[in-house]
Amino acid sequence: MSTETILHINVTNLAYIAASVLFILGLKRLGSPATARNGNRLSSIAMLVAVLATITGNDITSWEWILGGILIGSIIGAISARKIAMTEMPQLVAIFNGFGGAASGVIATGELIRLIDSGSIIPQDVSITIMASVIVGGITLTGSFIAYGKLQGLVPTRPLLLPIRNVINIALLIAMFIATVWLVIEPSTTAFFVAGGIALALGILIVIPIGGADMPVVIALLNSYSGIAGAATGFVLGNNMLIIAGSLVGASGLILTRIMTKAMNRSLANVMLGGFGVEDGSNGSDQEEVRPVTSIQADDAATMLAYAQSVIFVPGYGLAVAQAQHQVRELSDLLKEKGISVKYAIHPVAGRMPGHMNVLLAEANVPYDELKDLDEINNEFQRTDVAVVIGANDVTNPAARTDSASPIYGMPILNVDQAQSVIMMKRSMSSGFAGVQNELFFLDKTQMLFGDAKDSVEKITAEVKDL
Ligand code: TAP
Repeated sequence: MSTETILHINVTNLAYIAASVLFILGLKRLGSPATARNGNRLSSIAMLVAVLATITGNDITSWEWILGGILIGSIIGAISARKIAMTEMPQLVAIFNGFGGAASGVIATGELIRLIDSGSIIPQDVSITIMASVIVGGITLTGSFIAYGKLQGLVPTRPLLLPIRNVINIALLIAMFIATVWLVIEPSTTAFFVAGGIALALGILIVIPIGGADMPVVIALLNSYSGIAGAATGFVLGNNMLIIAGSLVGASGLILTRIMTKAMNRSLANVMLGGFGVEDGSNGSDQEEVRPVTSIQADDAATMLAYAQSVIFVPGYGLAVAQAQHQVRELSDLLKEKGISVKYAIHPVAGRMPGHMNVLLAEANVPYDELKDLDEINNEFQRTDVAVVIGANDVTNPAARTDSASPIYGMPILNVDQAQSVIMMKRSMSSGFAGVQNELFFLDKTQMLFGDAKDSVEKITAEVKDL
């Protein structure tokens, strides 16, 4: 090897080390809303360094495809980052996970075809890593698209349970394993298509039985799968950067999965097997309930709040839809001026992405010490005069404690039903993301305040000012 080539390799590897350090610092900074933007910036710089080092560090024979890909990818990325509403961010993450998995699988496929066509003997460790990338990437692609469909409302969010689904899944897993072993022993495109096709089918079959309430776990897991597929492709290509970046995504995705399974009180084994939290024959219910409820207007709600001593706001996905965070902050400031204690109860999976409520409330400069985690706040509800639920639903549903046939059974919820009285802001009687009716609506202590959350909070604030 010439001195020039060695120098070239060293420079590329140094750039990879710099990018890896920036990725790690970026990830660390994502841990708090205060430093998250900076973390994002550092990670994008890391990605730029990694891409430039990869392009300049290899002998590129044709630039057309690379430059075309960079151009198209940059345009799609820039447009989607600008156009996508905050509430649609989880769908975007699901699609990006899917594309990440697909990219890894396609690169590994290209490498396999190249090796088969060259007629050379493919070492078994190479064919095993190729198949790991193709299988994990395939499952990530189709699983992520089903997750996208559920988040976008294109696929029902309630669990869709096929009869004997576990038998089908196990049979497919065995067939995929046999096809992979066959390919490793004697590389053939038939075995490849069988294993790859089964992986694509498994992605759909694993995610489709999972209920809406459990989607946070699935998305975190698919995120980690996309990293694992990337790392496997890194081994196939012998590219250190891809191995490191893929491992970082895989590991952080697994940590997030662990946090989410803990928050949802689920086991990871159940997530892997799919269709958990639901008994056969029970598909949840997204029927609108016709039982009577007590509804109030903004002026009554304002009176309840102005004469309370303690208030807990319980934000959920509806807060994000209504973009009512600034109005809630204003109302809370007003109540505090009247000497009322105000806190915010934050459920780990409220909204549609991890930390969703924290980010929204931080945007409105709600003091961080007023945000209380589930464990911190749950015992306080019984000593609280009014719990104000702002567009939250599943995370307050007492069925999670009492109804073993419910898809959300076992999920820890905020004990809103234990407050002295409850104001529930939403637009209709419809159920939450899990498609399960909420018993909280029908309690004597619950007052439904129908309407868009931003309108309702503005009206309450105007009334409180006059009291
Ligand atoms: P949901 O159960 O989805 O309920 C949100 C409620 O907000 C709905 O009942 C809706 O009722 C109401 N709403 C919507 N727009 C509104 C508006 N403009 N004004 C007032 N209300 C409005 O939300 P949640 O309690 O936050 O629970 C989150 C759910 O999403 C859980 O099942 C969770 O597992 C799942 N999930 C979470 C994540 C993460 S990581 N956080 C990711 C994927 C899925 P109306 O239509 O009647 O107004």
